[in-house]
Amino acid sequence: MTNKANSGIEPFAAVEIIAAKRDRNELSDKQIDWTVDAYTRGVIADEQMSALLMAILLNGMNSREISRWTNAMINSGERMNWSALDRPTADKHSTGGVGDKITLPLAPLVAACGGAVPQLSGRGLGHTGGTLDKLESIPGWRASLSNDEMLKVLQDTGAVICAAGAGLAPADKKLYALRDVTATVEAIPLIASSIMSKKIAEGTSALVLDVKTGSGAFMSDPAKAGELARTMVQLGLDAGVNTRALVTAMDVPLGLTAGNALEVRESIEVLAGGGPADVVELTILLAREMIDAAGIEGKDPAEALKDGSAMDHWKRMISAQGGDPDAKLPVAQEQHVITATESGIMTKMDAMKIGVSAWRLGAGRSKQGEKVQAGAGIEMHAKPGDYIKKGDVLLTLHTDEPARFDRAVEILSGAIVIEENGKVDRLPLIIERITG
Ligand code: URA
Repeated sequence: MTNKANSGIEPFAAVEIIAAKRDRNELSDKQIDWTVDAYTRGVIADEQMSALLMAILLNGMNSREISRWTNAMINSGERMNWSALDRPTADKHSTGGVGDKITLPLAPLVAACGGAVPQLSGRGLGHTGGTLDKLESIPGWRASLSNDEMLKVLQDTGAVICAAGAGLAPADKKLYALRDVTATVEAIPLIASSIMSKKIAEGTSALVLDVKTGSGAFMSDPAKAGELARTMVQLGLDAGVNTRALVTAMDVPLGLTAGNALEVRESIEVLAGGGPADVVELTILLAREMIDAAGIEGKDPAEALKDGSAMDHWKRMISAQGGDPDAKLPVAQEQHVITATESGIMTKMDAMKIGVSAWRLGAGRSKQGEKVQAGAGIEMHAKPGDYIKKGDVLLTLHTDEPARFDRAVEILSGAIVIEENGKVDRLPLIIERITG
């Protein structure tokens, strides 16, 4: 890679690279390496990168270009190394959905089955919650760890969930912030390279991707979600990470809660051997995939939920990061109940509307850096397929600021459909499995 500091001369002009992609030409390896590096160094201006990102969104990239772009993003920062551990590493990444708290029970569960889970997570933006926001509702829990602290928590407890440091794929941090404000998030080459550069740099040896589809996912079309999953699996395999993917349903929220402390509470129920059936099923399926991809022959995840070993690992993992696993979780100051206006079968619950409502209650943020409310969110008292009687409580909305209720209720119009002789029309939990 040419370095401006060394030569003083840049090997390409950004405008030529933009024009090449605008005209549907392939970018060479050298052009890609330079573009990602030069943007990270501040040589390519935001307005030029915006134009290039839009050209990529409109005209795409072939698999060589995506793979090279991903590598250039990995090379923009550090690559973590877990070879000091005595157990194989396995991680999971979800593309995000409403009520998706699976990482919380999954990481200690896989640890209880013999794996080491080095999970670098993010904060939420928009209608889907972030894993770190959820865990931060536990009194004392700390998201920021040094690399040495991460290794120690992993060694001692088998799982660590923490914030990605500034050194991990810094090119992605800059590019993602720009994509967010230039309507260029929804491009498969850019999403795949963004997610996989961070996961490969994280240094896991096995990776399971949970690619969500349906109204509450950012890839609502199952065919597009499958394409994204295949692209990411190939990028992982090319980088030597044993990668596989499940495309899973996000037309209906996962579980019965959406919101930070509410989701922690539900995750603890799962670790205690209870919890909603869909959360338990997906947690166990993903754990089995991670264990298998990492080549671990340990305890079956269903057994580790039953015998309390997953819960032991959870408590150790939370304590190791300063949290009190037995502390009372925050509860919002105000509640508002929504009841059924008719009897019948619930045939639909729209994940996007529930997610936006929880966000409006204060569970999510609109801008990077905004504070979220730990107790805000939505409890669902029924799900599609359940028989509902007029007057039954369907949802409880939670917030610390009652002024938020009006807009949170407004978006819920049409979110739940109840029909006398209705037929439930929803996606199966697991839509596709991709192993490369
Ligand atoms: N999550 C990421 O990390 N990157 C994307 O581009 C989209 C979702």
